[in-house]
Amino acid sequence: MAEHVYIRDIAAHVGETVTLKGWLYNKTDKGRLQFLLVRDGTGIIQAVVFRKEVSPEVFEDARRVTQESSVIVTGVVREDARAPGKPGGYELGVSDFQIFQLAEEYPIAPKEHGVGFLMEHRHLWLRSAQQNAILLVRAEIVRAIREWLDTHGFVNCDTPILTPTSCEDTTSLFETDYFGTPAYLTQSGQLYNEATIMSLGRVYCFGPTFRAEKSKTRRHLTEFWMVEPEMAWADLDECMRIEEEFVSHIVQSVLKNRAAELKELERDTTALERIAPPFPRISYTEAVKALNEKGVEITWGDDFGAPHETALGEMFDKPVFVHRYPARCKAFYMEVDPADPQLSLSVDLIAPEGFGEIIGGGQRTASLELLEERIRQYKLPREAYQWYIDLRRYGAVPHSGFGLGVERTVAWLCNLPHIRETIPFPRMLERIYP
Ligand code: 4AD
Ligand code: MG
Repeated sequence: MAEHVYIRDIAAHVGETVTLKGWLYNKTDKGRLQFLLVRDGTGIIQAVVFRKEVSPEVFEDARRVTQESSVIVTGVVREDARAPGKPGGYELGVSDFQIFQLAEEYPIAPKEHGVGFLMEHRHLWLRSAQQNAILLVRAEIVRAIREWLDTHGFVNCDTPILTPTSCEDTTSLFETDYFGTPAYLTQSGQLYNEATIMSLGRVYCFGPTFRAEKSKTRRHLTEFWMVEPEMAWADLDECMRIEEEFVSHIVQSVLKNRAAELKELERDTTALERIAPPFPRISYTEAVKALNEKGVEITWGDDFGAPHETALGEMFDKPVFVHRYPARCKAFYMEVDPADPQLSLSVDLIAPEGFGEIIGGGQRTASLELLEERIRQYKLPREAYQWYIDLRRYGAVPHSGFGLGVERTVAWLCNLPHIRETIPFPRMLERIYP
């Protein structure tokens, strides 16, 4: 029996007879010749079935095989510069071909479908070359995130998904019943990792987070993945330094390891090649001024919406830090700016090319008195935050951290206008199927 190989390794098998297992992606019928495009998850290759070289039964199967049938193909690997596929440049001279399951008429034909139809068939749409490329970029982003943090002194420390309190905005909580008391799906692991840094110094959690966002936008999911580094003894400047190194590593890893996928997505990579530290830094107050000068209206004190973020991102060719937002725009845990108590030591990172905020973070309140006052101001239930307040009683330190949204990062690096294609099965206001 010929060896089962994966298409990505095909170059190492030129001249050998190998077996591929996969799905029929597309085919061209040329009478005596059947050109089968076969994909196996690692690549796509053209398998050529010549009537004279196979049994009549095999040729008949090659003739009748349908799109997305599962197939087992055996043949000799030939080099041919013109051969299509991924990596391309190789084809298979078929000696044997079997259909494992003959697919029914496939709902997604290689023609244009509306996005509603494609979302309804997301379980099948994922097989397309573009969706496959997006998922591979996503996996590389996740790999690079862990690689950088694991080699820069951060300890992976995961936090609960079921929580008794909110971390961000209380209006976007998913409530569930926890044996008779209400519990919420986590919005962020941050508060818990403010506790674990007191044991480990620098940590990160990485998992799904939930926001009951009632708005339909191209940047919001109700379930998304966030990586959240948290650092003891780090101020706002240190937080920005870490963010720019971290994001640059992610971008450069994708450029290096997923070049073929970026090409499949027709992503212009010149804009990504520039992404290296340092990133520009502007204050919220400067950002408001710049926006108004550009004709994008905003009043000092208001939070940015999507149009403001888009306009800000377009002013720079690298991600831009916007720091020191008015305290009232941000969550209760933000440290106050000692230079101006109206401001918080917060920072968002806005991606270029109009992709908006990809990171939110900043320095956390270290003072017991200030934290208690903020919990009162934000009308949060004090008892539920007792443990969090305790952290200011037993060895409080200046500390900072941030959260990077994986899907927003995928959208940026793949140049996708809508976040729905950045995760295998998106959860949105109007979608929980499939
Ligand atoms: O700015 P956010 O809400 O910050 C936090 O949750 C902090 N507790 C993080 C921290 O400091 N540890 O969210 C952080 C990032 C955003 O910049 C964005 O990339 C992403 O998470 N994000 C979303 N992504 C998709 N859909 C949503 N509804 C998102 N909300 C936030
Ligand atoms: Mg934010």
